Amino acid sequence: MTKPTIKNTTKSVTKKTSTATSAAMSLFSPPLSSPPALVPIPPTAQAAHTKLAVEILHHDHLYYMKDRPVLSDAAYDALRQELLALEAQYPGLVTPESPSQKVGAVGATPFAKVPHATPMLSLDNGFSPDDIQAFLLRMARFIGKPVLPLFAEPKIDGLSISLTYDHGRLIQAATRGDGHMGEDVTHNVLTIKEIPHTLQGKAVPGQVHVRGEIYMGQGDFEALNHDRQAAGLDLFANPRNAAAGSLRQLDAAVTATRPLKFWAYGLGAHPDLAITTQSGAALQLKSWGFPVNPLNTLCETSDAALSFYEEMGAQRQTLPYDIDGIVYKVDDWQLQKQLGFVARAPRWALAQKFPAEQAETILTAIDIQVGRTGVLTPVAHLEPVTVGGVVVKRATLHNEDELIRKDVRVGDRVVIQRAGDVIPQVVNVVLEKADIAAHENRPIFQFPQRCPVCDSPVERAAEKVARRCTGGLICPPQASQRLHHFVSRRGFDIEGLGRKQIEALHGAGVIKTPADIFNLQEINKTLAKPLEQWEGWGRLSVKNLFNAIAAKRQVTLSRFIYALGIPKVGQANAQLLAGHFRSVQAWQQGILAAAAGEDFQAYQDLISLEGIGPLVAGELIHFMQDPRNQSILAALVGETGCLEVMEEAAPISTGALQGKTVVFTGTLQTGSRDSAKAAARA
Ligand code: IVH
Repeated sequence: MTKPTIKNTTKSVTKKTSTATSAAMSLFSPPLSSPPALVPIPPTAQAAHTKLAVEILHHDHLYYMKDRPVLSDAAYDALRQELLALEAQYPGLVTPESPSQKVGAVGATPFAKVPHATPMLSLDNGFSPDDIQAFLLRMARFIGKPVLPLFAEPKIDGLSISLTYDHGRLIQAATRGDGHMGEDVTHNVLTIKEIPHTLQGKAVPGQVHVRGEIYMGQGDFEALNHDRQAAGLDLFANPRNAAAGSLRQLDAAVTATRPLKFWAYGLGAHPDLAITTQSGAALQLKSWGFPVNPLNTLCETSDAALSFYEEMGAQRQTLPYDIDGIVYKVDDWQLQKQLGFVARAPRWALAQKFPAEQAETILTAIDIQVGRTGVLTPVAHLEPVTVGGVVVKRATLHNEDELIRKDVRVGDRVVIQRAGDVIPQVVNVVLEKADIAAHENRPIFQFPQRCPVCDSPVERAAEKVARRCTGGLICPPQASQRLHHFVSRRGFDIEGLGRKQIEALHGAGVIKTPADIFNLQEINKTLAKPLEQWEGWGRLSVKNLFNAIAAKRQVTLSRFIYALGIPKVGQANAQLLAGHFRSVQAWQQGILAAAAGEDFQAYQDLISLEGIGPLVAGELIHFMQDPRNQSILAALVGETGCLEVMEEAAPISTGALQGKTVVFTGTLQTGSRDSAKAAARA
């Protein structure tokens, strides 16, 4: 292996000193121009807000950009509620960047960005029958009189689209994006048969924005996945993901082969038409030639609204498409106008969600999965069962304590639950009279004391629920997942190195440590079968991969710390640490000095950072003291390391540029995007 080419020359980008929390706060702290906060914001509230904001943005990205959410709607809503509660207490926390002021996400995608003439908003959620009553009361109080009737519509589980018709002709189709800017997917939408290219009838306005949901029916989804399986392609997790993936094709010819459907449910701005109600808009949309859901119902009373919800809840399994709740909208447009909007949702609408879908099946086996940080997760293998239109064969049992608490044994009849797109979970064992004797005779599951993959001892730290394999990088699933985390989007963000490629490279012993990634081109020359000859790789993709790796030899300190995958050090903490220590050497020395113990200043300095408590400090010290990690760091950023880690710029806390966004356009002649960003921040 030749020695790496780039030396660790940490540059001093700025001389400004930073405060402990300023790095993480820079994104979400109030701009200088905002009105003064009424209530002073304690640092703990600011830190909690930053943490929540970063987390919400991450989940928005997974949902809107990756079509791969990991949180249930309820868990996501809980995060938002927490953020809103903080902002209600400390109004100074509300900035234009706060997720409370945004819907969805717009990131780097190949589609052109287009502004929405009227923002595409989200909906407030309700979960219990009382929430409909509370919604009606809230509005009546606001207006000073009852707001009934409500127009009730099934909430379609697809993705929203805004269609612009100019003198009756479809001229643009845009996704929601962040609610203000969407992606131009006109070419793809033109291939969807249910969406008219021209509006029918005479009442055609100069310009109108039709809003609705693009979705895929369950039967079509299953057939598509069946074909993909036969062709050896990745399967879509659910109809929503399949619809989103099909719509975001670069080649419209591919979208044309996908069975996408459409329900129209609204108009962007209230156009100059003889319409005064939501139900009237539905009729108008129908007469223009749009599919409008025939289940939509005008509810004159709150009881009628509630029984519609219950009827739909009972019918939902038999519908040929997924719905996840009911949307209630004040029918009268005049009242809608008076009610107006709060930050991200209209006051005149409510999405009443259905509870998670459950089913019963038999648990056939329990196996243990090893995660990136060595955490052992028990996974239930099930007799396949359909829950909410999706066949479930596996479900999580979370951890050892949950397993004991639920007393789940192999052979038991269990209730499983799917909420949104999250991993299905085992809710409880069915213990009716007839089941009890058989359950009692089944052996209690013994949680392993050694790792089922690498046989290293398993430890469970005091007060922790997780059992962890102590094998670290000698444990193959841990090593491979850590390498994947290292190159993931928030880490080194190396294009062309996904989970599959990492598994293949690690499995073949080509890369064992992160530094091997940067030496891949040299390692490749020594391989009996070079990568270009591997099935599915090819000359061009290997060349592109080497280029992508070379482009990431320069990295910011926060990305570097994040990429190392230290437990409890996610993006927010990585930014916090990078903002405080500023250089990789200062960070390493600071953590090692903190290892001396609680009585030493370095330890106190570390835990005095907002967001870094004793638990995080413990993880950092544990990581830094491990000789295996020391050698990884030495290979990356030591004397002969292969990376250039850029010093984190301290955010400017005052001045004319405070709160401004800097945009780079065109190609950078010198340096990388990250170095340009760091310079701009400085
Ligand atoms: S109305 C301002 N109606 O739900 C009103 N939305 O959680 C905005 N959705 O982005 C939307 N069915 O993608 C409306 N009948 C329906 C809907 C519906 C599904 C989706 C839509 C929206 C999301 C909000």
